[in-house]
Amino acid sequence: MPYEVQGVVALSKGAPVSLETIIVPDPGPGEAVVDVQACGVCHTDLHYREGGINDEFPFLLGHEAAGVVSAIGEGVTNVAVGDYVILNWRAVCGQCRACTKGKPWYCFNTHNAAQKMTLADGTELSPALGIGAFAEKTLVHSGQCTKVDPAAPPQAAGLLGCGVMAGVGAAINTGGVGRGDTVAVFGCGGVGDAAIAGAVLAGASKVIAVDLDDRKLEWARGLGATHTVNSKETDAVAAIKELTGGFGVDVAIDAVGHPAVYQQAFDARDLAGTVVLVGVPNPTMEITLPLIDVFGRGGALKSSWYGDCLPSRDFPMLIDLYLQGRFDLDAFVSETIGIGDVEAAFEKMHHGDVLRSVVLL
Ligand SMILES: NC(=O)c1ccc[n+]([C@@H]2O[C@H](COP(=O)([O-])OP(=O)(O)OC[C@H]3O[C@@H](n4cnc5c(N)ncnc54)[C@H](O)[C@@H]3O)[C@@H](O)[C@H]2O)c1
Ligand SMILES: [Zn+2]
Ligand SMILES: [Zn+2]
Repeated sequence: MPYEVQGVVALSKGAPVSLETIIVPDPGPGEAVVDVQACGVCHTDLHYREGGINDEFPFLLGHEAAGVVSAIGEGVTNVAVGDYVILNWRAVCGQCRACTKGKPWYCFNTHNAAQKMTLADGTELSPALGIGAFAEKTLVHSGQCTKVDPAAPPQAAGLLGCGVMAGVGAAINTGGVGRGDTVAVFGCGGVGDAAIAGAVLAGASKVIAVDLDDRKLEWARGLGATHTVNSKETDAVAAIKELTGGFGVDVAIDAVGHPAVYQQAFDARDLAGTVVLVGVPNPTMEITLPLIDVFGRGGALKSSWYGDCLPSRDFPMLIDLYLQGRFDLDAFVSETIGIGDVEAAFEKMHHGDVLRSVVLL
């Protein structure tokens, strides 16, 4: 029997989100229904609401979640009812040209549920990143469920489902930060701060946090930034060069997704350094770079989808580090809120009052 639950929906471009009754079908072949326990509010949810991702309204928002599998469809073997899971938006197919080349973190044909969740009147919903977890239950492909140790509370574990994994992975997977490297992270929200924590885990010698907001910089220090730069008051590129003997950093990470920030990241890296774009630009943004510098400065300009993670490899590893006290997921949780408070959480995110608001269900 289909389930009727409450979910947070963006009905039209720019309009405040609303709590709607949604219909979650029984899981079909390869699908699972998950009772969501916690779901973080990520900037990407706000991008969806503003029409910055695509126009396939209405969206069922929420995609950074942990919960318990409550039903599975035919043929599901990777999870069972009762398993504690983090939801991922990279259920790799194993068969596309990226997977067959041995680079499944780039999978070009990731799995999502085949059936649609709907509004009560039957209107099909587009779940954010194929998840839609600001809801008491959600329907996903079973490959989107990654089993982890239930000792990790859901408000912390769920964060690995998007922002924290994206940030950590931008540093250690995409950026390839290694022992002794210098790193600059532009934008110290949940994603940027996770990149900072990732760089620290990887053994970076200097981790320079850049933001426009002093509170964000203070939190970034808490997550391991060794230096901070307020780019509202200071020329970030000059400050980073000064901190790195005039050279610039080995890895510069743009966790904002804005041309002006990308330009700073491009200019603040050392010769042969790497620029990583993990912030998501909107579709109208453009940038012009001197081609001679793209060539002459060498190195790599990369983008990072979900931190180039492999959920099955990376989620359990980071949960282990968390449970051992070596990776502070709790530091990302600014507040826990109810399912009716997502619009207010967007407002707080916009004003820089929170790192992560996490909905408890
Ligand atoms: N690539 C991925 O897989 C992936 C995954 C999750 C999120 N994201 C994207 O990452 C970005 C960050 O997400 P978040 O949840 O951390 O957002 P957030 O709003 O919490 O944080 C953004 C931070 O950037 C700072 N900022 C804004 N403009 C700036 C500027 N010009 N210079 C320096 N700092 C500036 C803000 O003060 C804020 O601290 C978003 O674009 C989001 O969509 C990407
Ligand atoms: Zn694939
Ligand atoms: Zn996200």
